[in-house]
Parts: sequence; structure tokens; C-alpha cells
Amino acid sequence: MKKYWLLLALIFPLFASGQSRTIAERVDSVMNLMTLEEKIGQMNQYNGDKKATGPISINTDKEGQIKSGMVGSVLNVKTVFNTRKIQELAMQSRLKIPLLFGLDVIHGYRTIFPIPLAESCSWDMALMELAARIAAKEASASGTHWTFAPMVDIARDPRWGRIMEGAGEDTWYGSKVAAARVKGFQGTGLGNSDAVMACAKHFAAYGAAQGGRDYNTVDLSERELHEVYLPPFKAAVDANVATFMNAFNTLNGIPATGSAMLQRVYLKGKWHFGGFVVSDWESIGEMIPHGYAADKKEAALLAIKAGCDMDMQSRSYIDNLAQLVREGKVEENLINDAVRRILTKKFEMGLFDDPFRFCDPEREKSQWNNRENLYVARDVARKSAVLLKNSGNTLPIISKTNKIALIGPLVKSKFDNLGFWNISWPDDSLRIVSLWDGMANRVGKERLLYAKGCNIEGEDESGFEEAVSVARKADIVIVSVGEKFDMSGEGKCRSNLHLPGVQEKLVMELITTGKPVIVMISAGRPLIFNTIAEHAHAILYTWWLGTEAGNAMADILLGDYNPSGKLTVTFPRAEGQIPLNYNHLNTGRPDGEKAISGVNKIYKSNYLDISSLPLYPFGYGLSYTTFKYGELMLNTHKPAGNDTLEVSIDVTNTGQYQGEEIVQLYIRDIVASVARPVKELKGFSKVMLTPGETKRVKFMLSNEDLKFYDSNLNYIWEEGEFQVMVGPNSADLKSDKVVWCRSSAK
Ligand code: BGC
Repeated sequence: MKKYWLLLALIFPLFASGQSRTIAERVDSVMNLMTLEEKIGQMNQYNGDKKATGPISINTDKEGQIKSGMVGSVLNVKTVFNTRKIQELAMQSRLKIPLLFGLDVIHGYRTIFPIPLAESCSWDMALMELAARIAAKEASASGTHWTFAPMVDIARDPRWGRIMEGAGEDTWYGSKVAAARVKGFQGTGLGNSDAVMACAKHFAAYGAAQGGRDYNTVDLSERELHEVYLPPFKAAVDANVATFMNAFNTLNGIPATGSAMLQRVYLKGKWHFGGFVVSDWESIGEMIPHGYAADKKEAALLAIKAGCDMDMQSRSYIDNLAQLVREGKVEENLINDAVRRILTKKFEMGLFDDPFRFCDPEREKSQWNNRENLYVARDVARKSAVLLKNSGNTLPIISKTNKIALIGPLVKSKFDNLGFWNISWPDDSLRIVSLWDGMANRVGKERLLYAKGCNIEGEDESGFEEAVSVARKADIVIVSVGEKFDMSGEGKCRSNLHLPGVQEKLVMELITTGKPVIVMISAGRPLIFNTIAEHAHAILYTWWLGTEAGNAMADILLGDYNPSGKLTVTFPRAEGQIPLNYNHLNTGRPDGEKAISGVNKIYKSNYLDISSLPLYPFGYGLSYTTFKYGELMLNTHKPAGNDTLEVSIDVTNTGQYQGEEIVQLYIRDIVASVARPVKELKGFSKVMLTPGETKRVKFMLSNEDLKFYDSNLNYIWEEGEFQVMVGPNSADLKSDKVVWCRSSAK
């Protein structure tokens, strides 16, 4: 700290820290020294030009602006070497206000964890928190102050490429994951040198893009906004998230970036959010093509009024805000409020005490190739994969299986395992464990056979023959198919969700050999693979599992780990079924029930050509063992007021392996003043059971769990009948009913 702080303290005694001065006072003391232009500079964020490990190249215009205090934050710069170099430029500015370095540390920095959607299938909050903690440790040791994560957008459309970046389709569950990830990134508090600021994004409703097309229009009822899309953001605020990012989309006609309702009324008003809001990449400028602002000046005016504190990359603020203040169009108070929020975080991060406190090469080294971090990444990866099928106990592969054929375009692929939001390093090819590497590490190359079979994309089937002949030589066939790392992610939306290219055909060719075929699917979204689902012997959905992918896959295939993951998103059978979330409303003509008398069965809420049921429901996932559920037990059938309803069930491991089961609790409000979903997740419990063991799983429900937004957007519960359901997934549930009254006197 010392050198810079002493310097500052000499020049500006008002900067001085000390017990007696609160951060608010210190912020004020800095702000008193700032010109309007310098204040606006703090609201300006630039891209660092080059995601490099080598020396950063920053163009001279930006360099000059940093030196004159016209930049508050830089993104996409990594490593101690590069961040130090740029921070040194900021130290040449008049007030020496440190820069904040932001980066998309979405699921790991040096050690890449499974993509967030995959991790969410572990249903393990402590583990997700730990993964984020490790990412924060590595990133902060390498000069990063701020991650643009977690993405807490609820996503119900697998065409949308960014579904990979969230926690799936359920709001209640997504809120828990949001809180866990914020806690993980921020650790025990921002003052610690291993904490990074988290950023809840994209505020709001970005996941509801029409047609599953990125950046597209969002049009929602106020109730759906409040009930489905806002709660994970509120959970992030409650977990003390330092920052928010607004969103590219319009919401009911208003760009989220220009929405005062979202940013001023809800976030900073009702939710008392004390951090700051950054725009999404150039999203202030994008209000022009949205048809909401005539030019960047108007865009800046609308964004600052709406409560957007920092401009990522669009230069709308730096070029226009001072003028807007001078013209009397923007009150200086708005600028002051934004700058106060930003400086407060810089103080909380300890950057005024030492702008280089995240620039310690020794610390960077200690986190660089950290074996413990890799070990955790392997464990998270094992817990994120979901076993979708295992007919005749094909898996795990028993040790006497002699020859194992590894076939498919993803067997030897390394980089694809990192997914779209990877942070790449020059030595990646040495560090990332492919499926081939993982299996070879475990059983030795001698027992493995290989054929690529086909590419991920394209129509070329010329490799099929070799693949089939390799399969014939083996006792068991593992075929690894799926998406390339950049087929799901930002701007990576697809209308066709079938396995790309001729991969499904390859799998079917292999199945005709009569050998047991295990299909491993690596992807960033639910794909459609109905024929494989029917004919393969086993299917393991691995998503993209990160640096340790291959080791984790081998652990599962060979039975060192018994899979326990369960889907946090519904898998459709056809694109035409989308959206297909489990927690939909009923209709007046529900499918799958007896026809209403006099109404032909055809006049039901279904499709003529396909089933309206998913291929795999929300919450679904198998284990190498089997679990039997006993009868549902309730401590009362007539809870009243704020009574606790105790729901319990005995779960027995009836198979041969020790395993973990994710027991799920759902409720349904049968009649309400607003139609309610057929099921809503309200609890889960992950229990480890040895063969033959029974455990009683208990859930507590209170009237808080019954609440919803009524037609006037009041958050209330209503008395009446409720269905309580418990089981292994959202489509396989034991059920009972209770009548919940306001008071027992009734
Ligand atoms: C994405 C954000 C991301 C930002 C910075 C944008 O395009 O929407 O999620 O944090 O870029 O990389």
C-alpha cells in the first residue's frame, strides 16, 4: 500500500483513512476534490483491447484518458503484469483514483469449473459456493477485482444460447444458486484480498428473449416479471452483491438499460441496493437502434436518469454527460450518486489504501497451478453430470471389461470442455483433461481403442466404417458427441436443437453392432436426441465440465463416482414444444386427463403430431443404485396461519451401490385468486445412502412458501387446499393434500 498511500496522504490529507473515518466520509473527501469531468470519468469503463497474457495493448486514446482520470474501470485485462501496468497509468492521474479491473470470470479463472447450468445440476449449494470461491481466489490473485457473474437470469428456452450460463428454469432454485454464487465470489467480505466483487446480471428478464434469440424483445406481464424473473436478483441483493449489470433487451417496450422502473424504483428503491449498476456492453448506445434514443447524448441522458451508474464501452457518458449537466438536463446529484456508489466499492475493496493490492506475483503464482483447486473442480464436475439412461446396468464399466472403444468427435477434444465463457491460457492443451486422457489415466491406453467417426458439424460420414470396425473389436463402446464450445453461449442461439451434423447417425451405426453403447453428450443446453434416448444402452449428459472434464467422466464411467446430478431444466422432444417448463399453469383442457364430457379428446391442450410431455422432466437424473420412496407423512392436514407443516418421507437405497439422492418437494395451490402453476419446487434435500439404508427426509413448509403475487401485485398467501408432493423428480411424485387456514379458529 504504503508508497502510494503515503503519497496520497501527503497531497490530500482528506483521503486519510484511520479508525475514525467511515468509508462514506472518505468517499465524500475524495468527491470534494473532483471536477465534474473527473466524476464522469469514474462512470466510464473501457475494454482493455486485448485478452492477452502477454503485455496489454491499450490504444493511446484510452491510455491518455486513463492518465487524465477519465476512466473508472477497465475490463478484459488479466494477470498481475497487465493490470499493474494499467493501474500505473491511473496513478499518473491528478487524483490517483484506482481503476477497477473487471472480467467475465463465469465459472473459473485458471481452473475452469463446469458451466453454471451444469453445476446447478449438482443441487449442492456449498459446492457451487466453493467453486465460485476458488474462482475468486485465482482471479483476485491475478489482478481481477470484479467478476461479471453470476448470471441469474431464469431461462426456459434452450434455443437461447445463454441458458448455459444460468441455473436453469426454476426461480426458487435459481435464487438459492444466485445467493451461493455471490457468497462464493465475495467470500467473507470485499475488504479481503481474495474477494472479488460479484455482479448480478442481466437486469432484467434477459432470459425471456422472444424466440430464444439473443438480445431479442421481452414482453412480460408484471406478475411474471415479479414472480419468475426478479427473485434471483433480489436474492443476490440480499446476499450483499456489490454490483448489478443491466441488460440488452427491451422489457415491455423500454430498454432495460433505460428503465428507471427496474433500476431506480425496484433495485435502488424498494430493494435498497447500495452498490452500483454497470451497463451491458455498449447497451447505452444500443438504445439508439432500439428506437428509444435519437443519439448517444439522449441515450446518456436516459440511462443516467434510469439509474445506470457506469457505461461499459459505449462512450455515451464520457462524451455527453458533462454537457448535459451544463445544459441543466441532468442534475449533478445523479452524477454524484453514481460516483459515490462506485468510489464506495473502490474503498471497500481497499484500493484507495493500495491500488496494487491485487498485484502480488507471489500470490498469483500460488494460485496458478493449484492442485487443490483442480481436485475440487473434478469433484464439482462429477457431481454436475446427469445420468439419463442406464438400461441393464450398462454402467459402471466393470473392471474385467477388456477393450473399451472411445468413439466420436469429442473424445480427444480438450478446449470444448471449457464451454463458451472459458478463459483461455497458452498452456491449455497441456492442462485440460479430455475424455481420452481421463480414461487413459485410469485404465491405460492399451485397453482403449479410438475412432473419431465424424466431425461435430457437417455431413461427412466417411469415418463411420472405421468407427464401426473399431466398435466391433471392443467389449463396450463409449461414444462422445455434442456441441462445440461456441455453439451455446452469448449470441449462440439455435433453432435446431438436434445433435449437430451426423453425430446421431454415427451413434445409431454403432448401436447396430450389438455392442453396449454408452453415449456421452457434452453441450451447453438441452439437446434433442430422441432416437438415441430410445436405443442407446446408457446416456450420460456431461454438459461442459471444465479443466478436469475427462478425469471426472472416467470417475463416473468406471464407478469411482456414482452419479447424483439431476436436471435443472426440462429436456424437450422437439423444438416445437418450447417453452416447456415444469412449473406451467394448467389449462381448462389439460392434456393427459380424462376428456371433459362432450368434448372430443382432440380438443385438449396438446399437439396432434407429438406428445406434449418432455423427453426428460425437470429434476430428473439416475444413479447406479435405486431408491425407493415410502409414503408421504404430514404432521397435520390442517395447518393454520404461520404453523409449520412438516413433510417427511422415508427413502431407501434398494440397489448395490452407495449413492446420493436429491429428494424434491413441490406444492400446488389448487384454487387461488390467480391461477397457480401445477407444481412449484419448494424444497430439496441431498441424502447419501448406503445399500439397504433408509433415511427419513424432512421438509418444513410455512405460509411464506405459499405466497404469490395477486392481481394487484401484492405478495400474499390465500387459505385453501394445497397439494404437497415429494419424489425423485418433477414427474414422479407422491402426493397428499392439506387445507391451510388463516387461523385454527376457523
Ligand atoms: C455480455 C455480458 C458480459 C459483457 C462483458 C456482454 O456482451 O452480455 O454478460 O459481462 O459482455 O464481457
